[in-house]
Amino acid sequence: MNYLDSHCHINGEEFNEDLDEVLNRMLENKVTKAMVICVSLEDYERTLKIEKEGIKFKKAIGVYPEYTNTSEEDFKKYVEYMKTCDAVGEIGLDYHWSPETKEAQKELFIRQIKIAKELNKPIIVHARDALQDTYDILKEYRHKGVLHCYSGSAEMAKEFVKLGYYISIAGPVTWKNAKVPLEVIKAIPLDHLLIETDCPYLTPAPNRGKRNEPSYVVHTAKKIMEELDVSEEEFLKTINENYDRLFNV
Ligand code: NI
Repeated sequence: MNYLDSHCHINGEEFNEDLDEVLNRMLENKVTKAMVICVSLEDYERTLKIEKEGIKFKKAIGVYPEYTNTSEEDFKKYVEYMKTCDAVGEIGLDYHWSPETKEAQKELFIRQIKIAKELNKPIIVHARDALQDTYDILKEYRHKGVLHCYSGSAEMAKEFVKLGYYISIAGPVTWKNAKVPLEVIKAIPLDHLLIETDCPYLTPAPNRGKRNEPSYVVHTAKKIMEELDVSEEEFLKTINENYDRLFNV
């Protein structure tokens, strides 16, 4: 059984110089599935060129929460691209960086959930400092999806799982000061858990400070296995099943 990265941005300029080496390290570390997230129309073009024998790539595109001033013309292009993708995302709410556009963000989020439903594609949700509003919207417009890079409380995670959503955990669970992420992984059932890097950001220990990349997802996975006292075999089997159940529509 192999590892996977349910959320990465290897289509970004941070990987311009050495993408092939990054992909080789994925193979060396048995990371053989990855969901590549496009946050722009340019990202999508670059993603089409990413290929590697032995790695199964999936892709997602969505209008990022903060891009509320996306033109109608570009929005239509995003929707066209969504039709060829495996998921719609990342979409959601970010009140941390853009608290002034809350209402426009909600509107954009809901609009894209409706499109995802029509297209029958799961959603990949970004929520930062906006968990209650995210929850309210995901409850009202219930659809299959994942809370990516989940950073909320264990109680809230359980509520999302009750609605059927998956919870994806990134590098911060490996950090020295990690407390809440450890509560989260223990609070939710393993069959609703996913792992990701969100690279190039949020690098797990022991590589913190370096650029993140998909092969480092192994550190996040190992930390979770250790904390949950679950075998590598069982963990990987379940994580792969979760990923396939969510994204192989
Ligand atoms: Ni992301």
